[in-house]
Amino acid sequence: MKFMRVLNGEVVSPPPVWLMRQAGRYLPEYRALRGQAGDFISLCMNPALAAEVTLQPIRRYGFDAAILFSDILILPMALGQGLRFAEGEGPLLPPLQAVADLDPTQAAVGYAPVLETVRLVRAGLPPGVALIGFAGSPATVACYMLDGKGGGEFPRTRRLAYDDPGFVDALIDVLVDATITYLQGQVDAGADCVMLFESWAGIFPPAQFRRYVIEPSRRIVAALKAANKSLKIIGFPRLCGLLLGSYVRETKVDAVGLDSVTDPALAIAACPPGTVFQGNLDPLLLKAGGVALDTGVRDILAGFEGVPHIFNLGHGITPDVPTEHVARLMDLINDASQAA
Ligand code: CP3
Repeated sequence: MKFMRVLNGEVVSPPPVWLMRQAGRYLPEYRALRGQAGDFISLCMNPALAAEVTLQPIRRYGFDAAILFSDILILPMALGQGLRFAEGEGPLLPPLQAVADLDPTQAAVGYAPVLETVRLVRAGLPPGVALIGFAGSPATVACYMLDGKGGGEFPRTRRLAYDDPGFVDALIDVLVDATITYLQGQVDAGADCVMLFESWAGIFPPAQFRRYVIEPSRRIVAALKAANKSLKIIGFPRLCGLLLGSYVRETKVDAVGLDSVTDPALAIAACPPGTVFQGNLDPLLLKAGGVALDTGVRDILAGFEGVPHIFNLGHGITPDVPTEHVARLMDLINDASQAA
């Protein structure tokens, strides 16, 4: 598998490709299946449909990796917190009042359908295509659990981290343990590697970044690697800025996903030798298309030349992206080696 070779440290040109949110509303076949499932959570909890949705972008574009179709908020739901997705508003949860309101003993029952999806995808995946399992990192999941919605500011979480750090620490501890068990379940069900989404790494000042981002991720990586000798783990500390090097060195992730505002050369200089990079095309270019897209793709390819690189976006693909632009992206990446 080309994707796994790069994750193991090989430099491969052209690089393997997948896109965050590659299964989603920009695909007409996804919208059709989602309509059939009813709503997004029902789709995530229906293994047959979720597996089908996972495979749709692989069939259409030939990506090198499939990512399990699910959501980082399925884990809080499995822990007993309410979750719904309001159309056009994103996720909504009743803000968590106490860690005792969660029931970790029932979590595995709650997320059992997700593990079944992993098994079905594994069985249906063409040879050569890797399967990525994932979870949210504890700090990012805690942001949604404590504030009850997205938006990027998470004011309650930020205040609690100062006013009631014991509450936040206790929640993070529950999430670390639950995430280890959840990801181990995905590995046992057939995931080739796992990714930790820390989408809101960028809201924490350095001391809290170490406490809530680095330390919990370090514990998850250590536990998973102790139990699975050759497992590869990708971290995505979005908008972590100058703390990138500390994140990679201290968490010991094998690969790091970069957001679009991070310059490849500066990222390479900041990380230990041998780090695998994933990213980091601006998702807006995929909407824009044209010369801007062509130039953007070539710049990313040139920026990571000579280091192990998995092509991706710097954040998720948006619903307004024309499907032809994704086809153009694939052509650009696959033609690049001949042009060079
Ligand atoms: O990448 C993939 O194709 C795999 C599936 C996946 C989804 N969410 C499906 C999804 C993954 C890996 C995620 C991760 C996720 N979920 C993150 C981390 C990555 C990131 O984007 O920062 C976060 C923060 C969430 C929480 C979440 N889920 C939000 C904020 C939203 C609303 C925004 C939106 O796009 O509507 C979701 C919904 C969601 N998750 C959709 C999909 C396909 C759209 C649901 C729909 O069909 O309406």
